[in-house]
Amino acid sequence: MLTDRYKRKLDYLRISVTDKCNLRCIYCMPEEGVTLLPHDEVLRNEEFVHFVEIFHSLGVKKVRFTGGEPLIRKGFVDIIARIRELLPDIELCLTTNGTLLGEALDDIYRIKLKKLNISLDTMSRSRFKEITGRDNFDRVITNIEKAIDYNFFDIKINSVLFEESLDELDSLLDYFKDKNIIIRFIERMSFFDNSNTKTFVSSDKLIEILRQKGTLRRKENVDTKVAQMFELQYLDKYNIKIGVIPPITHNFCSKCNRLRLTCDGFLKTCLHSSIEYDLKGPYRMDMGDEALKDIILKAVSEKPLRHDFDCAVDNNSGCASIVSGRSMSKIGG
Ligand code: 5AD
Ligand code: SF4
Repeated sequence: MLTDRYKRKLDYLRISVTDKCNLRCIYCMPEEGVTLLPHDEVLRNEEFVHFVEIFHSLGVKKVRFTGGEPLIRKGFVDIIARIRELLPDIELCLTTNGTLLGEALDDIYRIKLKKLNISLDTMSRSRFKEITGRDNFDRVITNIEKAIDYNFFDIKINSVLFEESLDELDSLLDYFKDKNIIIRFIERMSFFDNSNTKTFVSSDKLIEILRQKGTLRRKENVDTKVAQMFELQYLDKYNIKIGVIPPITHNFCSKCNRLRLTCDGFLKTCLHSSIEYDLKGPYRMDMGDEALKDIILKAVSEKPLRHDFDCAVDNNSGCASIVSGRSMSKIGG
């Protein structure tokens, strides 16, 4: 088991399989000037598989695939199918923007990848286009419906709301009120200078607004590592499970069990740290698995206690001078 200096057990690996995305969410990827990694720098399918085997041998039990958009990567299904074959017990999860999900569902189901996090910030087609830069709302909704119809997946909807889009709260609650999914609201993090676009909403403010929608109960015993969990008796009629994820105004570093592998083969032990450990280089130089394990153990031993945003985190601006040097689409959230 990988355990760091602060006795945190690190058994969860998030892997970005590509830095490419077919959307351009305003808080994630600027429309212009996105530099993508050269093809050769990105890990090959078998490299992802091999790294997962190594992490698994060190005690990692759960792997989440992220991007960019993971389903954009050719051979993504081959990667997860192979991992499932080699490691039948590992828990596989996917974070996706939903645009390409419909075509992949049969495969994902077959591979028993159960946990699906799907991003959706709005129930309005025009606002979807405004936020993501693409007119893909209908596709995403169709695919979410399709996924729900399998009656197999644990589905979470990830929503980033702004002051300007707070009216979406009602639309999202209305739409998902009788569907067995969890809606999670994530505070917007600033990875690049987007200060003059949309206004940050803190999780505390969001919780206050949710309280006005019905009876809101905190479910402390089912809080996840990152989300405060609530049950909302919406309109006093519908039970909706809600998660609130406050990376800006609160930190959950003390419970962090995560490691991250970037699509170009670097290990990060903290989303907000610029420190990265090269695994691809040593692997491609044939240094052997033991050398890779040593690098991983060293990285784990150096995992920071907490992240340090170097501006006041509770000034309500959502200003976080995140020093990671990569945006979410490159790290994988
Ligand atoms: N702030 C908050 N959430 C973000 N996501 C991507 N970038 C940011 C950001 N800057 C979320 C997306 C998606 C998940 C992968 O991460 O909404 O649901
Ligand atoms: Fe793509 Fe997700 Fe970033 Fe949106 S948040 S641009 S869907 S990677």
